[in-house]
Amino acid sequence: MTSPLRSSSRSANADIVPRENLDFQLDTDIPKYWMGGDPFKTRFFDAMSTLFPVGEKFFIMSVREFKDGITDPKLQREVKDFTRQEAQHSLVHRQYNDRLKAQGIDVDDITRRLEEELMVEAYKFSTPVQRLAVTAALEHLTSMMCTCFFERKDLLEGSDPRVRAVYAWHAIEEVEHKAVAFDVLTKVAKAGWWRRNVPMFLVTFGFPFTVARILDYMLRVDGFTLGQRAKLWAKGLWWFYKPGGLFPPTLGYYFAYYKPSFHPWKVKEMPSYGTWRQVYERTGDPIAAGNALHAAGQ
Ligand SMILES: [Fe+2]
Ligand SMILES: [Fe+2]
Repeated sequence: MTSPLRSSSRSANADIVPRENLDFQLDTDIPKYWMGGDPFKTRFFDAMSTLFPVGEKFFIMSVREFKDGITDPKLQREVKDFTRQEAQHSLVHRQYNDRLKAQGIDVDDITRRLEEELMVEAYKFSTPVQRLAVTAALEHLTSMMCTCFFERKDLLEGSDPRVRAVYAWHAIEEVEHKAVAFDVLTKVAKAGWWRRNVPMFLVTFGFPFTVARILDYMLRVDGFTLGQRAKLWAKGLWWFYKPGGLFPPTLGYYFAYYKPSFHPWKVKEMPSYGTWRQVYERTGDPIAAGNALHAAGQ
């Protein structure tokens, strides 16, 4: 097993490439439970999708608050490309979320509440550095999931190739820009260990709690009774936390963040990043590239 923290520099191939006008065919006949017919697994990923447009707006705003202090031209360019990538993610996830609206999910209400919590309440009680540290922490959790989920074939087995392709593309770009918020936080805002790690500790609990709240709401909208939801949750939590489940293999990657010498490019790289990129650059088809990324999993 590879150590999650190893001395590697940024991959030469992982420059930040904003990609636009990708067609995932989200307006076609995608099954409601696109993850092998499993309501819990599907709604877990669907719940995350409802968070992205507001979350990514928060990320962009928190990084841009430090824009004027960035003097390194490379970091200035990376912030621009990071912003363009996150804006595209929001755009595609809004299309994705339109499917959820058609299924009766009140995405507008979820968005309104999140905006209230993140953009209004959190702004009242936090400093720009704290907001940037929250962004850097969430970017670490995101790149952790992107790297660790796609290196395994079993996790997304049986999923619809169109939706899987959205997550594959999103994962690739999250990996490409995983160090941007962290670099602004440490090099421009000059945050030390405590200021970057206390927010990480908070989002470690806040993020799963928010996803769980939305996931359960979605299952209620889907008509599952309390008893049925209890069974779905029991099975789902086992899927999350059983040995070799969704999250235990990510722990090394997660805890690497707390090391004083941590930098996002020191954590293991996504093994099949190059595969996605080669297929996408050859075909221009994000679905084919998503299939290739999935097939390259172990
Ligand atoms: Fe994103
Ligand atoms: Fe991101």
